[in-house]
Amino acid sequence: MAKIAPSILAADFAKLGSEVADICDGGCDYIHVDVMDGAFVPNISFGSAVMKSLNIYATAPYDVHLMIENPDQYLEEFVTENTEYITVHYEACPHICRTISHIKEQGVKAGVSINPGTPVSCLEAVLPFVDMVLVMSVNPGFGGQQFIPETAEKVAELNKLRQTKGYSFEIEVDGGVSDKNAGLLASNGADILVAGSAVFKHEDRAEAIMKIKQIDA
Ligand code: DX5
Ligand code: ZN
Repeated sequence: MAKIAPSILAADFAKLGSEVADICDGGCDYIHVDVMDGAFVPNISFGSAVMKSLNIYATAPYDVHLMIENPDQYLEEFVTENTEYITVHYEACPHICRTISHIKEQGVKAGVSINPGTPVSCLEAVLPFVDMVLVMSVNPGFGGQQFIPETAEKVAELNKLRQTKGYSFEIEVDGGVSDKNAGLLASNGADILVAGSAVFKHEDRAEAIMKIKQIDA
């Protein structure tokens, strides 16, 4: 059964505290924190101050997804007692291995993400060092987009690579995930499914979380 990381980008920002409490009570495994800078992606979301203010409501760990240029400059800001993963984009990091080391030096787990247009082969050199690979299944920048089916193949490719090479990274999928594709993604090897709209646009968040979890059971 895959773990579920609801993205708070789809939450009601006017009541973010209770939205976070709601998904935690609803049994989420992580809280997916989408940080956008208006440069790497064509949208601005929120920064570390907003995330830190949610610590008092968060009983699940943060899974921080940095969709920003020059992430090395801001990494420390996202390290809190509640941060488990910090993920950066391969496309935003000219020195990806150095950035991954930098994240680990902060005492948190390090993830690397690839856009739909970036092949898995680009990650070859960094795979031995990462704790997670985040496969983007939409072009990053916005919630509520349609899942790109071809990206499910990348999950299978990564799963095969980690088996043959003995790597231990988790595979996460982000973008347009719902109960319609959760089964396929989990059977291809996904460990963590990010779901924004599929959880927050649902009145009963616990039910929405369970629906995705059960479908791939
Ligand atoms: C996209 C974000 C995703 C997004 C997921 O740039 O990284 O995490 O919020 O939202 P849904 O599930 O609505 O596609
Ligand atoms: Zn995300």
